[in-house]
Amino acid sequence: MIRFVRPSALVLRTVHVLAIALCAVGLAAAAEETPPRYLDSSRPIDERVEDLLGRLTLDEKIALVHANTKFTNAGVPRLGIPPLRLSDGPHGVREEISADSWKPAGRTDDFATALPVGAALAATWNVDLARAYGGVIAAEARQRGKHIMLAPGVNIVRTPLGGRNFEYFGEDPWLSSRLAVATIRGLQAGDVAACVKHFALNNQETSRSSVDVAVSERALRELYLPAFEAAVREAGVLSVMGAYNRYLGAYCCENDRLLNQILKGEWGFRGLVMSDWNGTHDTRAAFFGGLDLEMGTHKPFDEFYFARPLRDSVQRGEFPLAVLDDKVRRNLRVLFATRALDDRPPGAMNTPEHQAVARRVAAEAIILLKNAADLLPLDPERVKAIAVIGDNATRLQCHGGGSSEIKPLYEITPLAGILERVAGRATIIHAAGYRPPAQRRTGAVDAAGIARTENAADAQKAAAAELIERAVAAAKAADVAIVVGGLNHDHNQDAEGGDRTALGLPYGQDELIARVAAANPHTVVVLVAGSPVAMDPWLAQVPSVVQAWYGGMEAGRALADVLFGDVNPSGRLPVSFPRRLADSPAHASGAARHYPGEKGQVHYDEDLLVGYRWFDAKGIEPLFPFGFGLSYTKFAYSPLRVTSTGRGADLAVTVECDVRNAGDRAGAEVVQLYLERVGADATRPPQELKAFAKVALAAGESKPVRLTLNARSFATYDPALPGWRIEAGDFRLHVGSSSRDRRQTVDYRVPAAVVLGR
Ligand code: BGC
Repeated sequence: MIRFVRPSALVLRTVHVLAIALCAVGLAAAAEETPPRYLDSSRPIDERVEDLLGRLTLDEKIALVHANTKFTNAGVPRLGIPPLRLSDGPHGVREEISADSWKPAGRTDDFATALPVGAALAATWNVDLARAYGGVIAAEARQRGKHIMLAPGVNIVRTPLGGRNFEYFGEDPWLSSRLAVATIRGLQAGDVAACVKHFALNNQETSRSSVDVAVSERALRELYLPAFEAAVREAGVLSVMGAYNRYLGAYCCENDRLLNQILKGEWGFRGLVMSDWNGTHDTRAAFFGGLDLEMGTHKPFDEFYFARPLRDSVQRGEFPLAVLDDKVRRNLRVLFATRALDDRPPGAMNTPEHQAVARRVAAEAIILLKNAADLLPLDPERVKAIAVIGDNATRLQCHGGGSSEIKPLYEITPLAGILERVAGRATIIHAAGYRPPAQRRTGAVDAAGIARTENAADAQKAAAAELIERAVAAAKAADVAIVVGGLNHDHNQDAEGGDRTALGLPYGQDELIARVAAANPHTVVVLVAGSPVAMDPWLAQVPSVVQAWYGGMEAGRALADVLFGDVNPSGRLPVSFPRRLADSPAHASGAARHYPGEKGQVHYDEDLLVGYRWFDAKGIEPLFPFGFGLSYTKFAYSPLRVTSTGRGADLAVTVECDVRNAGDRAGAEVVQLYLERVGADATRPPQELKAFAKVALAAGESKPVRLTLNARSFATYDPALPGWRIEAGDFRLHVGSSSRDRRQTVDYRVPAAVVLGR
């Protein structure tokens, strides 16, 4: 029998000093092996990691856990270990940044494919496309020598004002999870590590670097964590970025509860946790709180918390070497998993295939919100004069918004896309309609190197009336007026580092749209925006409204595809569009405590009722509901067939339905399944999305659609347990075209309670 004896403090200290001494001479058991095991790509990753770890000096280990440029660590040149190369993300590979400043490096080989933003990808509800999207980024990242892409961003949209909503996958945890898993799989299948961000609760930009989020354990588990959990448990994501904000009083990049207990403990995450840029605040807190790689701190690289201060603490025996080794292992795992030391095949940049994916995502993301009298699609043979109005018709959007900006090889604006589509057949009359104030740099730069801007003195006011008059004249002279407006990437719009200040359209667009619609009854409003905007001032007068998001470099062509009917719109809202700000949960009370926080804390008192869960529970009519989007055709749903197999944790329920394209045009439907708990549990939201499928159908075609649920689909999180559990009882499964357009329902009974645990 082996007896374990607790070693004395002296013995421990001696072992520690010895270990450091061994490190210091770079002692490696296998030093004479040729080739060393860590270079042998046929060996398992963990074996290679252990071999390499054993060869590292303390200084080399320290060099691996902190940055030595804006986007790399130092690697270990002595052993041929390259720097770990990171890049933003999440919509393509960002341009090269200088080593120690945020200035662009000024290269000419870093023009990239600019894919549509995350909100647009979410609006496609197409997981195959999300996988292709990840694949494009992986190929370009490989070509640029990157090992980690800082993508995807999966924070839940809690407020329609969130400055980074455009980067995320919307308000629903199931939709976000599916897109996260698919994107990560696409990325990592291409030998590039994904980095899911920002873990966790970074749901607003206002006070993002300090605000402490007070949220119930249940809302945390059921709304804010599932996309991260799926990224880890299903997709095997290789890295995670901590958020700037605090949770339980501790910064998320140093948060023992989030990083050690939940992420690494419960979910078994074996990859690396990096800080957000300048999100580290203390050596001890970060070291013991679960951080593995410190990035972007506003200090000289040698003074980073995980540089000299950490080395000194380890050397003095204050911090255990074993904890440092764990961090180094996690860094090295990513290096080996991305084949950084092997013959990683080269990638490819800016291929026609990549551009085709960008266009397809942009087109599938477009949501037809309103189409009275079937104004759309436009017939290119019959429309002879088109007025294209609005600043967003000509504005370049890819290079903006903060750290997610891309330097695109080219960018097709809406005006350019429409011009190309009707070339030679119709006259285009362009009018600016409105003009956002010029931006002036304030001199301040935030953590991600984004130069703070503000509106320069509004010299345009006088010009506004004239811009509107010209737009009205253009609209009068045309068969159709297309107003391309919405938001943009200026500060306090859809941009990192600040939230919007109101739901309404900026720059006097309400008046412009109302005047144009009055001048031409055939008016289409195209909203280029990452979040909902208020539409009441003009919606009743405008026959057609299209939500186009930021569609990347092919945005203009994708828009023309939809406007002229080459693509039948199949986008669906990944967020609820409220009629007014007070209708949405974070703003209902109007209290600072709920948004943006007071005394350093923001309270998520709406609890589980985020997004449509709130609108449903409170009986509020949204402007456009979650899951909504029109098509140029119609779909019919057969009654549902439900079958189940397995019991308890192995339960699998299948819901089948035949969906028929009842119109005369090919199209795609997003079939959505919402789960309702009947009676009993008043704490549950009235309904929750638990499955969906996108199905393409030729005119008249019918296809069976199968949606599956598992035990977790029925479960809620019980903090007392703690863990997931299912109550026995009756459920109603609704299948339909949006959260408010449920076509078929079937009842299902869970016969016995089940404890699933964590
Ligand atoms: C952002 C991250 C980004 C990082 C590096 C931060 O400000 O929050 O999403 O990846 O900068 O640019």
